[in-house]
Amino acid sequence: MYLLRKPILALSASDKVRDVITRAPVTRAVVDRFIPGATVAQAVDSIRGLRGEGLQVSLDYLGEGVTDAAGAAATVAAYLELLQMLTAQHLVAGAEVSVKLSAVGQALPDGEALALDNARTIVAAAYAAGARVTLDMEDHPTIDSTLRVLHALRVDQPDVGVAIQAMLHRTSHDLESLVGPGSRVRLVKGAYNEPVSVAHQDSAEVDLAYVRAIRQLMAGEGYPMIGSHDPRLVEIAVELASEYGRKAGDFEFQMLFGIRPDEQRRLVREGHTVRVYVPYGEDWYGYFTRRLAERPANLLFFLRSLASRT
Ligand code: FDA
Repeated sequence: MYLLRKPILALSASDKVRDVITRAPVTRAVVDRFIPGATVAQAVDSIRGLRGEGLQVSLDYLGEGVTDAAGAAATVAAYLELLQMLTAQHLVAGAEVSVKLSAVGQALPDGEALALDNARTIVAAAYAAGARVTLDMEDHPTIDSTLRVLHALRVDQPDVGVAIQAMLHRTSHDLESLVGPGSRVRLVKGAYNEPVSVAHQDSAEVDLAYVRAIRQLMAGEGYPMIGSHDPRLVEIAVELASEYGRKAGDFEFQMLFGIRPDEQRRLVREGHTVRVYVPYGEDWYGYFTRRLAERPANLLFFLRSLASRT
């Protein structure tokens, strides 16, 4: 079924498919499994519940591929509003916000400078409030630009984090400059439809690359953030952490809202730091279809709900 991932990602890029999915009445119920709310108030409510259970959070204001400066500015405003709400509700300390550079202007002409400027505004507000920032990683043509922006942001805030995708052939090379003291790196498999020239296509090869990257991170001096729901990889991360003398607080697990919630809580009980990635907002289509593509059960659940209503 892993083989279905690429066709599903390719199909979801079609406007027709987008139209069908976003208009189907049943979609909302399925979306709610992965996205706790459209508004910042709903996101903050869900965070309160998660924090009450000992989970940390990373907030993602949904949206990507913004095509004008006004859209990019709106994303910045949404993050500033979120940080104010978190501060007012005493939930900001230790929180992380996840930012996609394409949501703050990276895709515009001269977009890197605009994205850096916008990301700087978010980073300044987050760190002043007691939160941190991690840059999500998007499709491969954006990676060099995202890493340049990361390094520029780290001049002021050395612990701005970044997601690194194990599926890419370039990853072990990229990690060499990202394992220094304090460097926060979220290791993920990679959610985009990447060509064979840049990425492993076979799930076993992706998993092996992931394990090599865990080792590289655990052996380094940074702060590894293991972003996976894969039970085997979680177990290997725990083993490799102990092999390199890391204690529970020297690395963390990250999982997506609504995915393996029992496992998230089990890891907390074991003494691990677990951060739940909480997306919110109206622009959920890209995030939602990546979730459908990466897990057959998610897709089947959606198709079954669709069939039962039609
Ligand atoms: P995968 O989906 O391959 O599943 C492996 C195994 O995990 C399954 O066989 C099953 O055993 C178990 N499993 C998975 N889902 C389950 C479920 N719902 N119920 C029960 N078991 C389940 N990607 C990216 O390109 N850029 C980014 O910035 C990010 N950011 C990000 C943040 C965080 C916190 C996470 C967790 C993930 C991302 N990703 C990402 C997404 C990532 O690249 C990847 O697509 C997904 O995490 C899916 O891969 P997994 O490693 O979870 O395993």
